Amino acid sequence: MPNLSRKVGFYQFAPEFGAVSANLSRVVTALNGVDADIIVLPELAFTGYYFQDRNELVALAEDPATSPTLSALVQLCRENSFHLVTGFAEKSGDKIFNSALLINGEGILQTYRKLHLFNSESEYFDPGDRPLQVSDIGGIQIGLMVCYDWAFPEAARSLALQGADLICHPSNLVLPWCQQAMLTRCMENGLFAVTANRIGSDSRPRGTLNFTGQSQIAGPTGALIHRSSTTEEALFITTINLAQARDKSITPLSDLFSDRRPEFYLRLNNN
Ligand code: ACM
Repeated sequence: MPNLSRKVGFYQFAPEFGAVSANLSRVVTALNGVDADIIVLPELAFTGYYFQDRNELVALAEDPATSPTLSALVQLCRENSFHLVTGFAEKSGDKIFNSALLINGEGILQTYRKLHLFNSESEYFDPGDRPLQVSDIGGIQIGLMVCYDWAFPEAARSLALQGADLICHPSNLVLPWCQQAMLTRCMENGLFAVTANRIGSDSRPRGTLNFTGQSQIAGPTGALIHRSSTTEEALFITTINLAQARDKSITPLSDLFSDRRPEFYLRLNNN
């Protein structure tokens, strides 16, 4: 078995709404010099979250092909030899997606476009238009989800069945259930997850949203490896052995994958 120990973690902070370059500087300052393999940032880490309308989003979203933010993040990855997973307001033609980007020092390795838009997001974002997928980085399999995807067990299951060892999960959580639910997502799929949530609030024309922090790393038995506070900025990195995600047995005779009976799961996949 190859060595599957990796240093993974998150940076929990409070992006300032609309201040893309200030948020970028903050991330670069916080992460430069950090020894890690994969660092996860919150959903919409550079624009902020609570858009007034589509026009406001159009003005702040970026096409990764021409984005100075993306270029700076790629450079940050290159100089520090780590991977980043970040939330990103992604412009693509006349569409705008609430995306998660998996980046290394050469560019984007995977773009995931949020499938399950939350609350007013569907008024200004386009819904994700690509299947969930996993990316191999140095022998470990990475799946991406964004925030409210946690409430759809099919998302994590799809990634798990594709071989994900680790789900990276940029978030801007406002409801109190996700962090506990992600322990179950990890247990039922026998994998790790890093949920990077933001702190602080967005006070905007539509109202004020308070974000719940408590970014966390969870492991295959549903173990909580680390959870940050609800209010404090936090950079947390730890070593996990992703080989643990390759063993789906929960007793010598019980296995989370081979015990499945999908032919009886009516109404999944429209059957
Ligand atoms: C969320 O999906 N940002 C709650």
